[in-house]
Amino acid sequence: MDFSGKVAIITGGASGMGAATVREYTAAGGQAVIVDRNVNLASQVSDETGAKVLSGNVADSEFCNWAIEQAVGEYGRIDTLVNAAGVIARAKGIDTSDDDWGRVMGVNVSGTFYMCRAVLPQMQQQGGGTIINFGSIWGDVGAAGVLAYCASKGAVHNLTRAMALDHATENIRVNAVCPGEVNTPMLQSERDEPVTDDLMHKLAKTVPMERLADPKEIAQVVLFLASEQASYMTGSLVTVDAGFTAR
Ligand SMILES: NC(=O)c1ccc[n+]([C@@H]2O[C@H](COP(=O)([O-])OP(=O)(O)OC[C@H]3O[C@@H](n4cnc5c(N)ncnc54)[C@H](O)[C@@H]3O)[C@@H](O)[C@H]2O)c1
Repeated sequence: MDFSGKVAIITGGASGMGAATVREYTAAGGQAVIVDRNVNLASQVSDETGAKVLSGNVADSEFCNWAIEQAVGEYGRIDTLVNAAGVIARAKGIDTSDDDWGRVMGVNVSGTFYMCRAVLPQMQQQGGGTIINFGSIWGDVGAAGVLAYCASKGAVHNLTRAMALDHATENIRVNAVCPGEVNTPMLQSERDEPVTDDLMHKLAKTVPMERLADPKEIAQVVLFLASEQASYMTGSLVTVDAGFTAR
């Protein structure tokens, strides 16, 4: 795929699958703009890839509006928005605090919505664009002990479908990738038990292919959805889970 002359904003681009998407996109000739609250990690990815960094919190709608303005001011257009910023709270609903509920819904749902809402007028004005949201297998089926996260990803899935319909005739395609178990800092975060090789091995064994995904394996699907090769796809939830939800 060739993204020469194209511009993508990638939230969560400092780490995990967002960073892998920045690497793949820039390797394919595109200009990436990282939107992330982790300035240090974002700078490292930027040094490696030439991506521009805009640091801030996607749960703040004013910041999202500002970030889009900055990117348009510098590059004149935005071909693709990838919403990969996300957080998790590992708790049953009964144990989920107001703060954790607000944090997870604020970043995963509101952050995705605010970034989409901010970029859509620019995409309309330039005659089209693509949006790829990060859903999850846990937005499709339930999982014990991660209630707020499951609720947030279910919301991202249906936001994706509804937004795709709102803009179906405007050459703006809105899709989501729904990864399974991917080896990123999030996968290892907020666990009650220590993150050992044994734990990672046990997690891998829960997957039909018996391995965790490399973040690059998800980024490649994101690039496909951003490309003209996916020209007839909108409103799709593309599961990338090594068979997890096939059972
Ligand atoms: N790792 C998995 O197994 C998995 C599976 C399915 C879906 N996902 C989803 O994929 C996406 C990427 O996850 P990852 O595993 O690469 O995570 P990660 O923790 O490696 O990266 C997430 C990035 O988002 C940024 N971020 C978090 N909150 C932010 C905020 N409020 N404003 C700006 N930036 C913020 C972080 O700084 C970080 O750089 C997330 O939406 C996640 O929910 C992950």
